[in-house]
Amino acid sequence: MSDFLSMYSIQYWLESCPQGYLMNTEFGHAPGEKEPDVILDNEVLRTETIRTTVQLVVGERCALSASSGLINAAPDEASKRFLATQTLDEARHVEVFTQRLYDLGVKKGDLEGVIAQYAIPNLVKFAEILLEKVDKKDFVAGVVGQNVILEGMAFSVFEMMHALTLDMNPKFARTLSGTIADERRHVGFGENRIGSLIREFPEKRSEIERMQRDMSYFMLATFADSFRRNPMQAEIDRLEAETGMHRSKAQYQGVNLAEMTPEEMEHVLADTVLKEFKLRLGRIGIEYQTPRRP
Ligand SMILES: [Fe+2]
Ligand SMILES: [Fe+2]
Repeated sequence: MSDFLSMYSIQYWLESCPQGYLMNTEFGHAPGEKEPDVILDNEVLRTETIRTTVQLVVGERCALSASSGLINAAPDEASKRFLATQTLDEARHVEVFTQRLYDLGVKKGDLEGVIAQYAIPNLVKFAEILLEKVDKKDFVAGVVGQNVILEGMAFSVFEMMHALTLDMNPKFARTLSGTIADERRHVGFGENRIGSLIREFPEKRSEIERMQRDMSYFMLATFADSFRRNPMQAEIDRLEAETGMHRSKAQYQGVNLAEMTPEEMEHVLADTVLKEFKLRLGRIGIEYQTPRRP
C-alpha cells in the first residue's frame, strides 16, 4: 500500500502535474500559440476539427462525472484522494477542449448547441453505460469502466491524434501531450487499485465483463462513425495536390499514418485499443470479451 499511497497522493500529483509538465502553460499549450491558419481559413477542415473536438469534450465530461461520482463510492481514503486529483484533471480536460472549440470560432452562446449537433450518438451510449454504474455507486465496475475502458480508449485516441498533429499543429499537440500524461496516471490507478478488489468480489466479474463488451461495441461504432465518410481526408489530399506540399511522417504503433486511408487508420486504432484492453483486463483478472464489429 505504501507505493500506492505515494504514487497516487495529492503531493505526487502537485509535483508532477501542476508544478511539473503543466508549468507555464495556458489551456494546456504554450502562451500565445494559435490553431494553424490552414484550419481556421478552410471551412471543411475547421468544421471537421470542431466535430472531432466535440467528441473529446463529450468523453471528458463523462470522465469528470464518473471520477467525481466515484469519490463517494470509494472504499478507502487513498482512493478518494486520488479520485479528487483525477476530478480536477478531468475538469481541466473539459476546459482545454472547450477552449479549443472557442479558438476554432465557436461562439460561447452556441457551445451546447454545437455539442448537441456534433456529438456521436454511439459515444453518448458508451458514456451512459459507465455513468449508470457510477450512479449505482458501484465502485469496482465504475473504476473498470472509467480507468480501464474509457481512459484506455482516450489514451490511444490522444496518442494517434498527437502523431497526426505534431508537425502541423504544435499548439494542439502540446495540449494533447499534457492530457496523455494525465491519462497515463489514471489508467495506472485503475489497474493497481482494482486487481485486489476483483479478487475480493469475484461475483462481480460477469457483470463487468458484460459492461466491457458493451462499451467496446459502442467505442468501435464511434470509431466507425468518425473515420468513415469523413470529408477531412479528401480535403487534405486536395490541398496537398494543389500546393504540392506533403505531410511528413506521422508515426504511430509502428506505421506511418500519413500514408494510410481513414479505414486503415480506424483498424489500427481499434486493434491497438482492444489489444490494450485485453492486456489490462487480464492483469486485473477480468476475461476480455470480444465485442461485435459494427
Ligand atoms: Fe481526461
Ligand atoms: Fe482521465
